[in-house]
Amino acid sequence: MPRIGIGVIGGGGIAAEGHISGYKLDPRCEVVALWDNDPARVQEQAQRLGVPHICETLDELLGREDIQAVSVCTPDHLHGEHAHAALRAGKHVLVEKPMTTTREDAARLVEDVRETGLVLLVGQIVHFQPAIRAMVETYRSGEIGDVWLIESDYISDMRRYYGPHGETPWRTDAQAPQDILMGGGSHSMALLMWALETEVKQVFAYANHKAEPMLPINDCYLVSLLFENGTIGKLIAASGNRGAAPTGGRLVMYGTKGTLWGSRLYRNNPELHKTEIVRDFQEEFSQSKPRVQGTRQVQYWGEQCEHFLDCIEGKAQPSTSVLEGARIMAALCAAIESTRTGKPVDVDNHF
Ligand SMILES: NC(=O)c1ccc[n+]([C@@H]2O[C@H](COP(=O)([O-])OP(=O)(O)OC[C@H]3O[C@@H](n4cnc5c(N)ncnc54)[C@H](O)[C@@H]3O)[C@@H](O)[C@H]2O)c1
Repeated sequence: MPRIGIGVIGGGGIAAEGHISGYKLDPRCEVVALWDNDPARVQEQAQRLGVPHICETLDELLGREDIQAVSVCTPDHLHGEHAHAALRAGKHVLVEKPMTTTREDAARLVEDVRETGLVLLVGQIVHFQPAIRAMVETYRSGEIGDVWLIESDYISDMRRYYGPHGETPWRTDAQAPQDILMGGGSHSMALLMWALETEVKQVFAYANHKAEPMLPINDCYLVSLLFENGTIGKLIAASGNRGAAPTGGRLVMYGTKGTLWGSRLYRNNPELHKTEIVRDFQEEFSQSKPRVQGTRQVQYWGEQCEHFLDCIEGKAQPSTSVLEGARIMAALCAAIESTRTGKPVDVDNHF
C-alpha cells in the first residue's frame, strides 16, 4: 500500500520533536516536505530530520500531489488560516492546539470539514497520557459517581520561551502575542470537556497582568465554568509561575462516590473517617513510556500521530474533532470576553 505523504507547516520545536519524530515511527506514512517562513531554520531542521523537500511557499507544499495530510505547527494565531488552506487543498489536518484563536476561524474549519469530509484532528496531546485516560475511564465507568465539581490548571513558568531571545519569540511578539488562556488553557479546557463529555454553558472569568513582564497581555486567568450537565468547574491558566504549582493540577474530579486527584482515585471510609487511596494511576503506568523518546518535551507524540493515521484510514474517529475543537474555542473566547465585560458570558456552542 502506498504510504501516506505528510507535509509539515511550521518547522519549529514541536514540529521537530513532536510531529516529525512521531510520524517517523509509523511505517504507514512518510514526511515528504516542510514549509516555514524562516528559510535558515527550515533548512537546518529538514537536514537534521531527514525531510527530503523544503517548500518556499505554503501553496507549493499544499500543491504537492504526494502529500495527503499535513501537520499545522505554526504559532497559535496562524492555525486557523493554515488549517483552512490545507483542508481546501484536499489535505487531512492534524492541527496543534489551540485549534484557532477566534470563534470565526473555528466556525470556518467546521464548515471546511463538513464540506470536504476530510479528517481534522486537534492535537490535544494530554489525552494520550495513559494515566489521564485511565482517570477518565474510571469516571466513565461510574466509580466516582456523578461529578459535581471539576478542575484543571495550566500554571507554567514560560521564561525560557518568552522574549526576543527566548526559544519561541512569537509568544511575546507585540503584534500577536500568545494568549496563555488559548495556548495553555486550551489543554485544560479540552481535558475538562473531554472528561465530562459535555459542553460549557456559561463562563465567568477574571484575569490580571502582574507576574510576567515579558508578555504584553494578561498572564493569569481564573475561569469559573458551568457545564451543560450541571457540573461546575474551575480552570486556571498562568505563565508567570516562579515556584511550585500545588493547586488542582491537570485533572481533578469530585464525584458523589469518590475523588480523582493527583492521578489517584480516593474514597472516604465513613466508619473510619479516613480517606483511602483506591488506585494510583501514576504508579500503575510508571512503566509506560511514550514511543518518542529523547525529546525535551517527552509526550505521547508517536501515539498522537498513530491515531491521526488511524483516522485517515477510517479505523478511528478523531479524539478531538473539529466540532469539539470549535466548542473548546467558543468557551475560551467567552472567558476572554468575560474578563473584558466583567460579566458572565453564555457560550454559543452552535456550529
Ligand atoms: N502540544 C503541546 O504540548 C505543545 C507544546 C509546545 C508548543 N505547542 C504549539 O505548537 C505550535 C508551535 O510552537 P513551537 O513551540 O514549535 O514554536 P517554534 O517557535 O519552535 O516554532 C514555530 C515555527 O513557526 C514558524 N513561523 C512563524 N511565523 C510563521 C509564518 N507566518 N508562516 C510560517 N511559519 C511561521 C517559525 O519560524 C517557527 O519555526 C504553537 O501553536 C504552540 O502552541 C504545543
